[in-house]
Amino acid sequence: MTGAGRAGEPARSTIEGKLMYPMIKIEGVRHAYQTPTGPLPVLDGLEMSLDEGGFVAVVGPSGCGKSTLTRLVSGLMKPDEGRVMLHGEVVAGPRSTVGMAFQNPVLLEWRSILQNVMLPLEIVSNSLSKSDRVERARYLLSLVGLEGFEDKRPSELSGGMRQRASLCRALVHKPEVLILDEPFGALDAFTREDLWQTMHKVKEQEPFTGVLITHDLREAIFLANQVIVLSGRPARTQYVLDVPDTGPRDLEHLYTPEAAEMLATLRHQIEIAQGRASLDQEVA
Ligand SMILES: Nc1ncnc2c1ncn2[C@@H]1O[C@H](COP(=O)(O)OP(=O)(O)OP(=O)(O)O)[C@@H](O)[C@H]1O
Ligand SMILES: [Mg+2]
Repeated sequence: MTGAGRAGEPARSTIEGKLMYPMIKIEGVRHAYQTPTGPLPVLDGLEMSLDEGGFVAVVGPSGCGKSTLTRLVSGLMKPDEGRVMLHGEVVAGPRSTVGMAFQNPVLLEWRSILQNVMLPLEIVSNSLSKSDRVERARYLLSLVGLEGFEDKRPSELSGGMRQRASLCRALVHKPEVLILDEPFGALDAFTREDLWQTMHKVKEQEPFTGVLITHDLREAIFLANQVIVLSGRPARTQYVLDVPDTGPRDLEHLYTPEAAEMLATLRHQIEIAQGRASLDQEVA
């Protein structure tokens, strides 16, 4: 049962009398960067609601404000206007309950792969003993297919393997929210598809709420259960697509008529966002 919250309160639902807030809620967010030539409006009317365990993919024209959105959700930045909430609580600063992985994995060359994955456990205060930390990092590395590479240095791994290690590092402290900013963007098509399947396997084993920034629409519908299209800068939420849950996903699913229809819809929305098609066409 969903109830509109009182004025000023986030929308919430009630299950057996217990208040349930969305894991991520973004309301009316506006933000401008201050630059030497004046303010640069980047976000202007961003809305998002994602339940716990959900996975949202965010797509939109280059430079529209997608990475800015990740900084707001992780608490690295505050919006000029509006609210970003995790579990109904306004994000007021950096959160250790958020894990992040980027296009460039930035692994430390002087540490082994195992030590790189364990790094967040050394930074975030937690009660794990050294042996538990090692066990957790080894478990994640085996989950993504990197068993046997624990003692290698980052430069000894391929790009896809480094990205797998980076994913383990982002997950090692069991974050509630995992933010992925174009994590597969620099990889070749086959390696990328391999990693999509790895992501599904990881999501089955490790509970998290995911935010994926991507330029790849196939990646968006393969991994996410909701796709948000942002308009051109300053970005607002232009379109939200719910991806039906069709059970375990395999790559074949991307070639079904349902997938083709979703991809066509998203492609059209991106064209609108880029100013190459008009909303009138959409209505017609
Ligand atoms: N710290 C900053 N100061 C000033 N301008 C910034 C800053 N960070 C980003 N911008 C500008 O804000 C706009 C949005 O940047 P952002 O990185 O969020 O876009 P993006 O959608 O992630 O782009 P891409 O798809 O190319 O990664 C861009 O025009 C960028 O130049
Ligand atoms: Mg970006």
